[in-house]
Amino acid sequence: MRKLIIAGNWKMNAGAASEATGLAKGVLAKYGQSDAVDIVFCPPFTALREVSAVIQGSKIALGGQNMYPKAGGAFTGEISPLFLKDCGCAYVILGHSERRTYFKESNEFINEKVKFAFENGLIPILCIGETEQEREAGKTEAVVEDHLRGGLAGLTPEQVKSMIIAYEPVWAIGTGKTATPEDAQSVHAFARGLIAKLYDDSVARTVRIQYGGSVKADNAKELLGQPDIDGALVGGAALKADSFNGIIDNSGAV
Ligand code: 13P
Repeated sequence: MRKLIIAGNWKMNAGAASEATGLAKGVLAKYGQSDAVDIVFCPPFTALREVSAVIQGSKIALGGQNMYPKAGGAFTGEISPLFLKDCGCAYVILGHSERRTYFKESNEFINEKVKFAFENGLIPILCIGETEQEREAGKTEAVVEDHLRGGLAGLTPEQVKSMIIAYEPVWAIGTGKTATPEDAQSVHAFARGLIAKLYDDSVARTVRIQYGGSVKADNAKELLGQPDIDGALVGGAALKADSFNGIIDNSGAV
């Protein structure tokens, strides 16, 4: 049985220390000691240390929203996985569609980051998913396959078992449009089937695949109730403790 993992990707929001710690405390008060689901906060880099101090001693984990695949050096503006670790991160989101779109990140570059995250003891949350145009052209599975083959290239079965994949259809991100539970389930099942082909059944049965894209309290139950959906990567609804808690409340696991 895979444990649900519900992560808040705060994106470029709630970066002010007081806002970040207030948000973290609001979730901590309700779910800080919960073992029922894994909870991860991914605040902006500048708030990582403050949020880390708030969640210290709780069951909530911390993640970065991105990283550069080098330990250090002359890479102005970039963040090393060593710094993320030092701030208390256990996870790092990689290949988010906003990075693929606005910063032209390729599968190859994302794969380099995934491998380097593992080398430095961070668990990657690898984001995959099609645009609206690709969906309308019937290319959803082809895109998911391309992102998965690209992102997972060269990883060991043990690595894939331990990582998180986040299926986030681009057209559902921040738009209020959610994939129907059936559509999301069908893509998740396809992704898991592909992982079974690339690796084996035990890897496919173990790896957790989150859904992301306009997840909120009132659609969480149906989405998270699907057999191949193992949690959520939440954007907008992760920015208020009540709405994030509402997703956990309705996850079916608490
Ligand atoms: P929204 O929940 O705001 O649609 O964002 C989803 C997302 O991109 C999480 O990474």
